[in-house]
Amino acid sequence: MKPFYVTTPIYYINARPHIGHAYTTMVADAIARSRRLLGDDVFFLTGTDEHGQKVERAAQKAGMATPAFADEVAGAFRQMCTDLNISNDDFVRTTEARHRKAAQALWQRVVDAGDIYKGDYEGWYCTVDEIFVPETQLVNGTCPTCGGKVERLKEESYYFRLSKYQQPLLDFYAANPDCLQPHFRLNEIRTFVEGGLQDLSISRTSFQWGIPVPGDPRHVMYVWFDALTNYLTALGFGGDGDDRVARFWPGVTHLVGKEIIRQHALYWPAFLMSAGLLPPSRIIAHGWWLMGGAKMSKSVGNVARYQDYTRVFGVDGLRYFVMREMPLGLDANFSDEGLLNRFNADLANDLGNLISRATTMVHRYCDGVLPAADAGDALDAALAVEAASVIQDVLGEFERCQTSAALQRTWELVRSVNQYIVKREPWALAKNPTQRALLDTTLYHAADMLRIIAALTEPVMPAAVARIRTMLGIAPEPWTGLAPGTLAPGTRLGKTEALFPRIELTVEDLRAMSQSENPPAQAPAAEPAHPVGTPATAAAPAPVAAAPAVGEPRISIDDFMKVELRVGKVLEAEAVPKSKKLLKLTVDAGTEQRTILAGIAEAYTPEQMVGRTIVFVANLEPRKLMGIESNGMVLAASVEGGLPTLVSVDNVPGARVR
Ligand code: MSP
Repeated sequence: MKPFYVTTPIYYINARPHIGHAYTTMVADAIARSRRLLGDDVFFLTGTDEHGQKVERAAQKAGMATPAFADEVAGAFRQMCTDLNISNDDFVRTTEARHRKAAQALWQRVVDAGDIYKGDYEGWYCTVDEIFVPETQLVNGTCPTCGGKVERLKEESYYFRLSKYQQPLLDFYAANPDCLQPHFRLNEIRTFVEGGLQDLSISRTSFQWGIPVPGDPRHVMYVWFDALTNYLTALGFGGDGDDRVARFWPGVTHLVGKEIIRQHALYWPAFLMSAGLLPPSRIIAHGWWLMGGAKMSKSVGNVARYQDYTRVFGVDGLRYFVMREMPLGLDANFSDEGLLNRFNADLANDLGNLISRATTMVHRYCDGVLPAADAGDALDAALAVEAASVIQDVLGEFERCQTSAALQRTWELVRSVNQYIVKREPWALAKNPTQRALLDTTLYHAADMLRIIAALTEPVMPAAVARIRTMLGIAPEPWTGLAPGTLAPGTRLGKTEALFPRIELTVEDLRAMSQSENPPAQAPAAEPAHPVGTPATAAAPAPVAAAPAVGEPRISIDDFMKVELRVGKVLEAEAVPKSKKLLKLTVDAGTEQRTILAGIAEAYTPEQMVGRTIVFVANLEPRKLMGIESNGMVLAASVEGGLPTLVSVDNVPGARVR
């Protein structure tokens, strides 16, 4: 069996997973599944990046010991894998002993190659991105990548001789033009390397939450040296047991977001070359999910939670949307409108219609047993030709990790089969006994095409495809030998069911369901206009607004007094149907009663709310959520990703809070 190794980035655990992380993980899963269908020996790795100052600070902020915090958030990423039906073969945590061994072994090899020396680092550091930022790249004193605050560091540090690898890297890129895709990304990185490389600071002394440097435990490794090694850890590198490096390395596909190309396509190959290993054979860089025009990011706070969407659209509905909507390498908007439209058009309508027609008519006209086809006419022949070509194209798109193109092509076949059925009108043929052979032929081909469509969709929607197969009465099948006409006549079909019922919710309903988790984007952090590494970026990156500091910008007392905060007492409380987050509260506001919807249902039961004193904004414009008009907003405190805690004061209903 051919080895095939695919990885996701390992995710920082300073906050819980969102759609961005879910996306990379789902795409990697689809790629892994596609290779298993081709019969490869697949190893699919994901995990968490747990060291560094950012995580240490997040734990402090949450009031938890760092290891306990790490366990909890790493658990949320593991849960994401379970929730999204991810078929990873391993989950690596950088706090594991096996990883410490691997990172220290790699470090030692680089030392042995003479590529590490001690010096002093003085300069700027962005803790959000965990990168050193040269003075010339600061944008109004902030990080060019995320727009956040940078900190001045002055400490002893080990350096990696990155400068020595300028030419070897350029040679590697020239000899392996497919090593970074899309190809324009390789041009960017090549231009950057051609501009000259400085040695890289790879250790820190000002905090302890990291992997100790071998022989000098006052230093912990720079988090990227530590993190990148994870891809070897899972292969047993530096361990005492099963070493699978020779089997799976360097034939790896690293799937990454475009903001971490430099670390993967430049630092990582250089570390590996120094350690006497080959660079990764393929890095695929995808674009960003944007929300409100800015990169969805936990540091900015404009994140969508995958749970809010799987609850409404199902796991496969969400998987289909993200993989269809984002062409590889480009950014895409994550919007409720987009999701509703795609779900209803492609799944409920196109695929749903095909499933229902192809199976219901076999039940109706053939007692649920698939008839045999005869030679048919030109229409049948054209369909078979198209199906064969679609199979070939889709397999090619998966090989290139182009899930969107693969689904687009598959849906061309879905539409063609629907048209084929409409043209043939089997319901009319069924009325005329002389047309029996043509009816059987039509029903056979419709079912056979549905089988092919299911097979091609399996990497993206594995659970839905299993249900289609149950309806068709067939077993799972590999991609090897996938061709039209192999469905066995005489197969007894299972019961037809509605796989993707149309979703009748409005965009407003959806928003209300996820509202409390999604404050509007605050910092427009879309990609700088000049791609990373081009001379224009190095000299003057496009302006990116800084994330606002706490309490900034200041407002006047008059501004504050415009907000009318009042005390209320909850008289009645009930859950809002179809919403996981909203409670409907009837509130005694002193001189009147108010209906207020609050996004607190995950933290408080209706029973806990009755009799409680709350603080609410009394002069907000009314807003309709889930068909109910909300007249005010209840105040609650929360840390990002955490549950809300209600603000309460000891006073009578109607009292003004100021
Ligand atoms: N820990 C590093 C990676 C180390 S790999 C050796 C890191 N972690 S992260 O938590 O910030 O995750 C980054 C990855 O999450 C991105 O590269 C991408 O795969 C995914 N995404 C996070 N936000 C995203 C979007 N808004 N859109 C698409 N993917 C995004 O960087």
